[in-house]
Parts: sequence; C-alpha cells; structure tokens
Amino acid sequence: MLLSMFEFTPVTVVCLTIAVVSLFGRTDGTTGDERAHTRTRNIRSVLQDDSLRTRISLPRDDSMPATVVPDDATILYSGSLPNNTKFMPEVGNGHIATVVQSDTMFMNGLYNGYNKTSHRARIPSTAGYSIDKVLPAELTRSYTLDVGRGLFTESHLSDDAKISLRTYAHRLYTSTLVTELVISRRNNDTEVGALVRLNSGSPSEDIDFKDLSDGLIHGRTLTAEYPEIAGTTEFYMKVSPSLHGVVRLSPENLTETFLAVTVIDVHQEAVEAEYAEVIKAFEEGTLLSSHVNEWNKLWSSGRIDVEGDANIAKLNYASLYYILSSLPSNGSRKDWPFIGLSPCGLAHGRKDQDARGNVFWDQEIWMFLPIALLYPDLGRLIVETRTRILESARKNAQQTGWEGALYPWESAFTGLETCPLAECSLYVHINGDVSFMIRQYWQLTNDKELMINGSGAEAVWETAKYWCSRATYESITDAYRITGVIPPDYPHQSVNDSSYTNSIAAINLAFANQLALEFGKAENTTWKEVENKLHLPYNAVEDFHPEFDGFNVLDDVEEADVVLLGFPLMVPMNISTKRNDLTIYERLSKIDRVPTQTWSSFLTGWLELGDEIKAAELFARSLRNVQQPFLVWSQYENVDDPTNFITGMGGYLQSVLFGYGGARLHDNNMTFNPRLIPGTTAVKFTGINYRGCNFDVHYTKDTMTVTLTAIMPGHRSLDILFEDKINWQEMMNGQNINARRQHFIIRSSQ
Ligand SMILES: *[C@@H]1O[C@H](CO)[C@@H](O)[C@H](O)[C@H]1NC(C)=O
Ligand SMILES: *[C@@H]1O[C@H](CO)[C@@H](O)[C@H](O)[C@H]1NC(C)=O
Ligand SMILES: *[C@@H]1O[C@H](CO)[C@@H](O)[C@H](O)[C@H]1NC(C)=O
Ligand SMILES: *[C@@H]1O[C@H](CO)[C@@H](O)[C@H](O)[C@H]1NC(C)=O
Ligand SMILES: *[C@@H]1O[C@H](CO)[C@@H](O)[C@H](O)[C@H]1NC(C)=O
Ligand SMILES: *[C@@H]1O[C@H](CO)[C@@H](O)[C@H](O)[C@H]1NC(C)=O
Ligand SMILES: *[C@@H]1O[C@H](CO)[C@@H](O)[C@H](O)[C@H]1NC(C)=O
Ligand SMILES: *[C@@H]1O[C@H](CO)[C@@H](O)[C@H](O)[C@H]1NC(C)=O
Ligand SMILES: *[C@@H]1O[C@H](CO)[C@@H](O)[C@H](O)[C@H]1NC(C)=O
Ligand SMILES: *[C@@H]1O[C@H](CO)[C@@H](O)[C@H](O)[C@H]1NC(C)=O
Repeated sequence: MLLSMFEFTPVTVVCLTIAVVSLFGRTDGTTGDERAHTRTRNIRSVLQDDSLRTRISLPRDDSMPATVVPDDATILYSGSLPNNTKFMPEVGNGHIATVVQSDTMFMNGLYNGYNKTSHRARIPSTAGYSIDKVLPAELTRSYTLDVGRGLFTESHLSDDAKISLRTYAHRLYTSTLVTELVISRRNNDTEVGALVRLNSGSPSEDIDFKDLSDGLIHGRTLTAEYPEIAGTTEFYMKVSPSLHGVVRLSPENLTETFLAVTVIDVHQEAVEAEYAEVIKAFEEGTLLSSHVNEWNKLWSSGRIDVEGDANIAKLNYASLYYILSSLPSNGSRKDWPFIGLSPCGLAHGRKDQDARGNVFWDQEIWMFLPIALLYPDLGRLIVETRTRILESARKNAQQTGWEGALYPWESAFTGLETCPLAECSLYVHINGDVSFMIRQYWQLTNDKELMINGSGAEAVWETAKYWCSRATYESITDAYRITGVIPPDYPHQSVNDSSYTNSIAAINLAFANQLALEFGKAENTTWKEVENKLHLPYNAVEDFHPEFDGFNVLDDVEEADVVLLGFPLMVPMNISTKRNDLTIYERLSKIDRVPTQTWSSFLTGWLELGDEIKAAELFARSLRNVQQPFLVWSQYENVDDPTNFITGMGGYLQSVLFGYGGARLHDNNMTFNPRLIPGTTAVKFTGINYRGCNFDVHYTKDTMTVTLTAIMPGHRSLDILFEDKINWQEMMNGQNINARRQHFIIRSSQ
C-alpha cells in the first residue's frame, strides 16, 4: 500500500514553530484576480455564490476501502505529473468523465455542432482541482492513479501532516464527479492547510448556461446535430460549494475531509435527488466505499493478472481501467442511451480534437471483443449502441442510393454521418465491422433476445442488403466486386476490391443467412450468391493477399489491414499465405505511422504460426506508445495527438487474450492456446464469460488450471476438451481442472 494509508507512528513529538504565511492570514486567501482567472463567464454567478455557501466537510478521514486487486499492479505512483498534459489520466464512469486537473468535463451523449461538425460539448470543469501551495511548506508532493479503486490523488506528506486531494467519477452515483480534500495532522500544534485551485478554463463555446439557484445550473447545447432528428440537448448540473481558495484544518480537529461534488444529468429531479443522496452518503461515510465497491464488482467479474513482470501487470489493469472509465457501470438507460466508445474515451473529444468524441470502427474491431469476453453486460451495451441507430443507418443508405442500412463512418448523437470529410461515405467497411461485432457477441452469448427483440439480427440483415446492392456482378470473371471504397489503410483512397472490405462483407452475408436459418426464415439466395462470388484479391505468384485490386507492392502501408484477415477475421487461408501476408505487410509498413493496435494483429498471426520470437519483437514494439507515468496511450509513436487512445489499449488487450491467450471464438465452441506473455511466469484470466458461464484460466510455462466459477440461471454448464485427451469433460462449478499447458476447447454442455 503506498500513500493511501496515513498512519502516524508514535515517535517523538516535535514542536514546530509555525511561520504563518500571509496566504493563510485571511479566511479566503485568494485575490480577486485569481478568482477571475479560474472562473468562466457563463457559470461564474454560481461559483461566486460559493463565498456565501458553507463548504461541506466532516471531521474524519474515511480509511481507504479494500480492493480485490493487488495494489502493486493497480497503483500508478509518480513524484511528478507528465510533462505533456496530453498524457494526464482521466476519471470517468461512462456517463461523465474528465481529465484530472483539466478545465473540461464531458457527458455521454452531449454533443454540439451541426451535421459534420458535431463534437463533444465542452462543460467548463467544476472538478478540475489541484493544490497550489500547502502549509507546512515542506510537505512532499506525489500523485497516484489508483486504477483498482478508480481514484486520482494528489498527496502532500510529511511526518506531521498529510493533505490529499482525490478525484473520482462515482460508479454507483453515476451522474456524480467527486473531489475530496483530506487534511490531517499528527497534533494540533501544526497548522495545516492548502491553497486549492479550480481550473475551469474559458467559457464554453458549446453550451448556454443559466444559473438557477443554490448551485443548480441549467445548460443547453447551442446547435443540434440534425435538427430534423433531435433538437439541442438540455441538461442540469448541481455543484456544491467550491474548494477553490484556502482550505484550513480547524484548530480543534486532527483530520477533516472537505467535499466538492458535481452532478450532471438530463433531468432536473434526477440531479437534485442524486445530489442529496451523495451528500447523505458522505455524511454517513459510505461515499468512497460505495464507489470502490462498484469497481470491486467489475474486477471480480473480469480481470487479467500476471506474475513476473510488474509493468505488464500494471498495463493490463490500466488498459481495462481506461476503457471501463468510458463505459457505464450500471446497464443501459432507456431515457439516455450510451452512445458508444470513441477512440479517445469519454474525457476527450472537444471541437477538432481527439476524434471529437465520435464513434468509429475502433469500437467494433479493437475494443469490443476483450470487453465482451470479460464483461458480457458491457458487451451487450456496446452492441446496443449500433442497434439503437439502425434507423439512421437505413436513412444513410437511402441517402447514398443503396438498399438496406449503411452505418456512418463517424457517429455521434443521432447516428447520421458526422465525419467531416467528403470521402467519408467510402469507408463502407464499417458496415461489415458492425455485423462482425454482432456475430462475435452471438458466438459468445447466444443471446436470442438481443438478436430478435433488440434488432441484432435486423442490423445484420440490413447490412447484408447493403452489400448486395453495392456489389456489382462482372460476367467475364463470374464474380462480384465492390468498387470505390476506402480500406482501413485509409491513405489509399477509393480502391476496388479491398481485401479487408470484401472479406468482412462476405462474413456479413454468411452470418445474415446463418441467422435467417436460426430464426426460422429461408436462406436468402441472393446473399448466398454474392457471398460465394465476392472477389478476394490473391496473388498466386507471390502467394499473398494484395490489399486491393491493382495494389503495388512498392506502396507504403499505414494500417496493414490485410493482416486482420488472419485475426480477428479468421479468413481460411494456407499457412504459407498467412506467413507471406505478415512478412510483406510488415516490410511495407511505415513503422512510425502504424496505429499501435495493428501490431496486435501481427503478433497474433506470428503466434498462430508458432513464432514466439517474432511475436515478442512486435509485442515490444506495440508498447512504445504507452506514456508514463499513468500508462495513457498515444496512437502513434512520438505524437501526442490523439491521446488516451483506448483503441490501442483494446488492441493491447487482444494481444494478451487472443495473441498470448490464444482465445478464438467459433460458432459453437471457443478454443484457447495459452502461451506466456514475454517476461511473465504466470498468467491468469479471471471471469471469461462463455454462454452464461464464467471460468478462469491460470497457466504457467508448464501447467494450467481451468476453473468454472459461475453458471447463470437458465444456462447449462461447460464441457472442456484438452488436446491430449479424447473425451470431453463436463466442468463442475468450483472444481479446478489441472493439466499441462496446452490447447483446449470449451463448449456449452451437451
Ligand atoms: C471539526 O470539523 C467539523 C467538520 O467540519 C466541524 O463541524 C467542527 O466544527 C470542527 N471542529 C471544530 C471544533 O471546529
Ligand atoms: C519531464 O522532463 C524532464 C526533463 O526533460 C525529465 O527529466 C523528466 O523525466 C520528465 N518527466 C516525466 C514524467 O516524463
Ligand atoms: C451535412 O451538411 C452538408 C453541407 O455542409 C450537406 O451537404 C449534407 O447534405 C448534410 N448532411 C445531411 C445528412 O444532411
Ligand atoms: C487540540 O486537540 C485536543 C484534542 O482534540 C483538544 O483537547 C485541544 O483543545 C486542542 N487544542 C487546541 C489548541 O485547539
Ligand atoms: C443500477 O443501479 C440501481 C441502483 O442504483 C439498481 O437498482 C439497478 O438494478 C442497477 N442496474 C443494473 C443494470 O445493474
Ligand atoms: C421477445 O419479447 C417477447 C415479449 O417480451 C418475449 O415473449 C419473447 O420471448 C422475446 N423473444 C426472445 C427471442 O427472447
Ligand atoms: C434477399 O436479399 C435481397 C438482396 O439483398 C433483398 O432485396 C431481399 O429483401 C432479401 N429477401 C429477404 C426475404 O430478406
Ligand atoms: C475501379 O472500378 C471502376 C468500375 O469498374 C473502374 O472504372 C476503375 O477504373 C477501377 N479502378 C481501378 C484503379 O482499377
Ligand atoms: C493452398 O495451397 C494449396 C496447395 O499449395 C493450393 O492448392 C490451394 O489453392 C491453396 N489454398 C488457398 C486458399 O490459397
Ligand atoms: C469448433 O467449431 C468449429 C467451427 O464451427 C468446428 O469446425 C470445430 O469442429 C468445432 N470443434 C469441436 C471440437 O467441436
């Protein structure tokens, strides 16, 4: 345990002479200038009232609640903040999020800007606190991101006093951002206090604020995305008295906790009710513990532990932490849906920055699978971000002149296209990506309810129709072709027969028929015909897949999308072809422009071919975009924009689960081929979810243990078959099944 416990050891009591700096000579130590500097115009009136509103505090420091995860893998400690503020960490709960100490907060679904300018609406922060100065002046400053508990803490510590400022996005009270300033001292001869700063930045260009009363604020975005679908968004905030200024421990108390909260949601009553609940929880001493408890539930449900390499251990937790911080803790809301995972998470995406908070294929291809494997409810929520906008995708197809549905390349509030570039309508692979995610979800869960009542199957059928209308038949070759698309390797604008696009379209068509048969419909012969005859470029001389028709092997490649045919697409191909694809596209890659997650597909390919040395080299390369000390990722090496690239973290988690873990989803079974991650001596996946069951896989170099840990009501148990056995074995709940480390198969009990 690092600094979260502050225990005074009974040593000699030192009598300190306190030099009372002028700073602490006034009740409110800030000058008028400082105030003006940190307040925004449009929410200023509320903050000004603070001097009249009493700060909320309690004479105790609630001790740090325990976690189910190891501290040494989850507490990221640093004596200083990153030099580049782009690599500051964030706190979030899928509903609201903020980069710590930044001047901005964001709410899920709150966008501003017409049509292609839609971006996350910037709310000037009421939670961006930091400490400017402390008394006594010789305290040692440090910072911790505790990803296990979901807290960021700035601490100032000496033998006699401790000041800590912690910020978290509450995971039970999910509309709430909390800051707690805890001031403690060993004895009441030591005068202790802090000059606290609130960073609210400039006024918002996105929102019109109106001050109601007593900390309640009304906000309304300025411009609707597509006014014919939905108007501007109204929301409410309730903000407690600010901590900005000087905060001192009262002479009689040895410890005190000061509270600042911001509650943000679309309904005024909900905001006021949650604010009251939060204050009550603070008074009862359960505010922090109920937050940590929710994180504990998440970690109990799914996590990845390793032994032997402390950095990998931290990276696993941090990567999950950042993605989970952009996912709601508590199921879907009917009144305010979860919009989806944007490549830079919920705490990023203001105008012209960090993907503007829009949702791309990154969600489907890079982030969905590891999350769905460990947290199936969140997997469902992600699928619902696409079924929710099926109607918009239909409109989008109509507008561009095709049948069925075409998902927009970039999606924000309405689900209509928000990509600013004219060529965005050519990124049609997104349609296959969405269907592919639904297929993975189906393979993992067999969730008929979502498929039928939740429009999952409808989305697959509609995207299949799009491909049929988009593909053109060429009689000379007796093949269907898809022309004029941008492949994931986007510098190649408008190509014909992209290998990636055609492969994922064919999978989409096959899955559409599979679902038709599953749900009692006839197979659609048009889908079947197009699927069978869709052209997949293949160079027989060099035995590899050209990226598209007419691809020149002297071309540079950024996103080596052909490598994705191996994993995650799992397109059947000869081993020699797979090897050539991996070799050729690595050679063509402009190494410093390869998006970090692509290395995950490369190394997964090499592991399939059994080349652990090559895989380890690419694994190390994939980690170059991780920024210390809080393990925030950038998309490219040596470039800080975009930042908090959770797509890269999704790719990293795929390296761990599907690369080294060797996990693969098939129609009615799931296989594993576990290998140690470089540098580690043991790996444990806790809470892999398959068909309503949870199981753990724990392995070392030689041994392996598989344990069924839960069977949800209404589900069957699981069977396991090891490579060195002939018979399936039914798994008993709680029973450890031991074997030498090897390939194995899991299926729902027959
Ligand atoms: C100690 O702190 C509590 C909580 O802020 C406060 O109510 C109390 O007045 C303080 N003690 C004294 C004697 O000031
Ligand atoms: C910040 O920059 C200084 C000087 O370049 C360097 O010594 C230090 O390690 C950097 N800190 C971090 C956290 O990167
Ligand atoms: C978005 O705005 C552009 C003009 O800026 C317009 O051409 C286009 O039709 C609009 N898109 C939709 C779907 O209305
Ligand atoms: C210091 O704290 C003790 C115990 O809380 C209290 O009895 C005493 O009055 C305090 N001294 C001052 C100067 O407030
Ligand atoms: C969400 O939390 C509320 C209580 O805050 C609880 O009643 C509800 O069951 C939770 N929903 C889910 C899906 O966990
Ligand atoms: C769809 O909903 C209806 C009504 O709630 C229910 O009877 C039916 O079982 C659901 N279908 C599936 C496939 O779960
Ligand atoms: C079969 O596929 C064609 C082409 O996509 C489509 O127009 C038609 O509606 C489909 N039929 C059914 C019954 O879904
Ligand atoms: C792509 O296909 C279109 C339509 O068949 C054709 O006109 C065009 O020349 C092709 N482009 C390339 C680069 O082959
Ligand atoms: C795989 O290799 C065999 C023999 O070299 C060849 O006949 C076959 O066409 C190849 N398959 C594919 C999918 O390329
Ligand atoms: C697992 O599923 C795949 C794909 O459906 C199938 O080919 C394979 O035979 C299955 N394996 C077993 C052992 O059932």
